[in-house]
Amino acid sequence: MFKIAVAGTGYVGLVAGVCFAEVGHQVTCVDIDENKVKLMKSGVSPIFEAGLEELMQKNYAVRRIDYTTDYKAAYKDADAIFIGVGTPEQPDGSANLSYIATVARQIAETIEKDCLVVVKSTVPVGTNDKVEQFIHDFLVHNVRVEVASNPEFLAQGSAVHDTLHAERIIIGTESKWAEEQLMKIYELFGLPIVSVNRRSAEMIKYASNDFLALKISYMNDIANLCELVGANIHDVAKGMSFDERIGSKFLNAGIGFGGSCFPKDTKALEYIARQHGYELRTVKAAIDVNNDQKTMLYKKASKRLITFNGLKVAILGLTFKPGTDDLREAASLDNVPLLLEQGADIFAYDPIGAANFAKVYPEGGNSKGRMTYVANIEDALRGANVCFIFTEWGEVKAVSPETYKNFMRTPLVYDGRNIYRVEEMRKAGVEYHSIGRES
Ligand code: UGA
Repeated sequence: MFKIAVAGTGYVGLVAGVCFAEVGHQVTCVDIDENKVKLMKSGVSPIFEAGLEELMQKNYAVRRIDYTTDYKAAYKDADAIFIGVGTPEQPDGSANLSYIATVARQIAETIEKDCLVVVKSTVPVGTNDKVEQFIHDFLVHNVRVEVASNPEFLAQGSAVHDTLHAERIIIGTESKWAEEQLMKIYELFGLPIVSVNRRSAEMIKYASNDFLALKISYMNDIANLCELVGANIHDVAKGMSFDERIGSKFLNAGIGFGGSCFPKDTKALEYIARQHGYELRTVKAAIDVNNDQKTMLYKKASKRLITFNGLKVAILGLTFKPGTDDLREAASLDNVPLLLEQGADIFAYDPIGAANFAKVYPEGGNSKGRMTYVANIEDALRGANVCFIFTEWGEVKAVSPETYKNFMRTPLVYDGRNIYRVEEMRKAGVEYHSIGRES
């Protein structure tokens, strides 16, 4: 059993902390936000994530996990400190490392015993070398401290499951001692561990995320071509998926990838390459395709309708994917302003993301369009001239083709997630446009 401190209680930090406690380690999660700490102590998760609150409550009850703003108390005698603070994207595509630097300095000034510092946040290759140097520069007590890289591969919505049943744990270390410490910490998970050097571990994270982003952009590119040549992307993907070298996952064409990771990590790697005088053409192409893809349906609908002015527009789904209330880089954020600018009267439905969206686009009218949030799908569809599907929520998938026909004024649907079969919508009398399939 290790005494572990975790810096940052976002998706990465909190889920890691809770899962370390779940396998038997003694964990203290540190955050600067007192309200958040109070909330977590009361068993409430600040993020929406399946199964997380149950594990928080269970492990808090047996005192295997605690939450605090007092980083000194948490760090001073920790065996290992995991850093899971954010590395937000800067305007030029580079990662903002100021949160990591703050934590590194706090660690250096606080630790009183030998300690392994483990960076879970996604950071540009070479950052952990700098973090280690930085800690050594500011170290107050004469103790051994090393930095290891341990990138995170969880996806939002299945974060707890992804952590406890990860397909691989990547550890990047520069000494036998650091490698052994991390191996021991992860032994309790019983999962495959890949041990490499620090820079390779940092690169594995970007290379994995960018490969998945590439896969999606490739399928979107092919989908757009499918439409032009009369092929069906769903059938094409199915046919491809039997080849184990291609695999069956992440072949879904749609309105592009969003979220806090793929958009940021593609731009970051492209930026890192540029810094080294190298043009990362494949990743650049993935970014370009994705930028166009997000408003693909809007462009199609614009041609069909001429104007959105005064039209009632139903939007089903606002978040970047189902199972989360996260809106970061969601396609809805690219489309809603275009629709409002055109004077659309929008009725938006999202089971959990609406409140966050309303912070950016408050309910009510402006000089041009109007935004209304509704609590059920029928209210969004009732009397609508056109409907856009942006997120494949279970609730949205459960809507029958006939519902569009019966509730909408004109049953015209633009589906960014290819939820329906083209024939079933046609049979129900719905004019249906999707991605990479005939209309
Ligand atoms: C992603 C990765 O899947 C995780 O492995 C990684 O750890 C995480 O980023 C991270 O770096 O922290 P996440 O952003 O939560 O996880 O979401 P994904 O499920 O990967 O979806 C990302 C976007 O791609 C979504 O907008 C989704 O709709 C889109 N997508 C995904 C497609 O358009 N098509 C697909 O076939 C799959």
